Amino acid sequence: MIETLYWKDNKLYLLDQRLLPHSIEYVECENYHEVIEAIKTMVVRGAPAIGVSAAFAMALAQLHDEDMTQAAHEIKSARPTAVNLFWAVDEVQKAVDDQVPAIVKAKQMMEEDIQINRKIGEHGNTVIDDGDCILTHCNAGSLACAGYGTALGVIRAAHQSGKNINVICDETRPVLQGARLSVFEMQQENIPVRMIVDSAAAFLMQQKRVDKVVIGADRVAKGGVANKIGSLMVAIAAKRYNIPFYVAAPLSTFDNNINIFDTEIEERSADEVLKINDKYITSEETLVENPAFDIVESELITGIITEEGIKKPL
Ligand code: MRU
Repeated sequence: MIETLYWKDNKLYLLDQRLLPHSIEYVECENYHEVIEAIKTMVVRGAPAIGVSAAFAMALAQLHDEDMTQAAHEIKSARPTAVNLFWAVDEVQKAVDDQVPAIVKAKQMMEEDIQINRKIGEHGNTVIDDGDCILTHCNAGSLACAGYGTALGVIRAAHQSGKNINVICDETRPVLQGARLSVFEMQQENIPVRMIVDSAAAFLMQQKRVDKVVIGADRVAKGGVANKIGSLMVAIAAKRYNIPFYVAAPLSTFDNNINIFDTEIEERSADEVLKINDKYITSEETLVENPAFDIVESELITGIITEEGIKKPL
């Protein structure tokens, strides 16, 4: 499996996910400012991967004797929706307060993320049947984490346990995480996969060509789950056609302090929508709305697959 990120010679290396699947290149981060830039520009993306990168950003701040409180504040401002970013920075800060070097904590969090995802995979596999066709949205795979993945971790576990499963990946406009990343991950492991345009999901469900939906999450809170834009449409369609809809997420994605509707939903640039392959697909002046996430209400969710088992939505 290709590494999403690694630490070498006091530098953080992030796989440049913007270039996938055509090219495998790493961006070198020597200081925490470069990690922030990489998170903002989506070199690295996906809630757990953002969290682990943020932990290493804290380690870089400590390494260069920078003000840790200021660094924590700036790192937390990189992207607003995935709660893992805030959680990871706070975890490292706590470790530092207890005299544990930030780098020790960051490395531990990276290892733990993979172990947690394997557990999510094991629990998730219990709801997957031999012969299932599973639809997923965006990329909640090894590329969105330190490794293995959450939603794609469940799919990996089912495939590795010998179940004959098929995967459908929504392309996931505008940034195409489904087309570029999830399809790529499935192909790398010879897991049967087909890609659809986002607007085909409901029709395939109506035609009984989808057995289950498994997606990831950027935040789980009272009332539902925030995840990549388009997740809500998929959930509503799944409810209409009685298709089980699962969210796979580590407990670090749970935010027990807020109602999900109080989540800040990131609004990204108009160019993400207006351009494909760096070319405008409509007039440059076209006004755009580009919310990067939406909210799936609890009543649409069958269960949340965590490292501690399958939980009811909050
Ligand atoms: O904008 P992104 O690519 O960071 O959004 C990612 C998602 O929405 C994922 O589904 C989510 O972070 C879960 S990743 C295990």
